[in-house]
Amino acid sequence: MAKVKFLVGSTYGNAQQMADEACEELNQLGHQCEVFNHPCIDDVIGEDTDVLIICSATIGEGDIPDNLLPLYSQLSDQSPLLPHVKYAVIALGDSSYDNFADGGRQMNELMHELQAVSVQEMLLIDACETPDPEEAVLEWIRLLHPKL
Ligand SMILES: Cc1cc2nc3c(=O)[nH]c(=O)nc-3n(C[C@H](O)[C@H](O)[C@H](O)COP(=O)(O)O)c2cc1C
Repeated sequence: MAKVKFLVGSTYGNAQQMADEACEELNQLGHQCEVFNHPCIDDVIGEDTDVLIICSATIGEGDIPDNLLPLYSQLSDQSPLLPHVKYAVIALGDSSYDNFADGGRQMNELMHELQAVSVQEMLLIDACETPDPEEAVLEWIRLLHPKL
């Protein structure tokens, strides 16, 4: 059983919904999960953090949504090292835009720089190409579960 924190970046609610459903699934699989809609650095650097799952859409021109941006800035500025933390990323976007899914990709890069340990390949949810995003997320979560 792992303590899992979902860190959400969402403007219109899609990423929020995916995080809520993923959280419920992992809770049912026996983990202890919580969703943070306005995460800050204190939610991340505490001793009680085993696993971070970043669930972020992209807004503007490849930007991180406003509710996740403060965390990104705090982590970039303070650069706390997180080698004891496992992480994985769900990145939502739309491939008809340039900078496809860059919000999630930027978070992924930052976690890598902070030496957090990636436990599963990033899940890309493309509004143009992923017919059933919920099923894609749940499948990905079930694969992730034994690695936590
Ligand atoms: C104004 C606007 C700008 C967007 N810019 C991008 C972008 O640069 N890259 C991308 O991959 N998706 C982009 N998207 C698509 C969103 O990331 C996608 O629709 C996502 O599912 C929205 O999630 P949310 O409801 O959690 O905000 C944009 C959507 C809107 C409405």
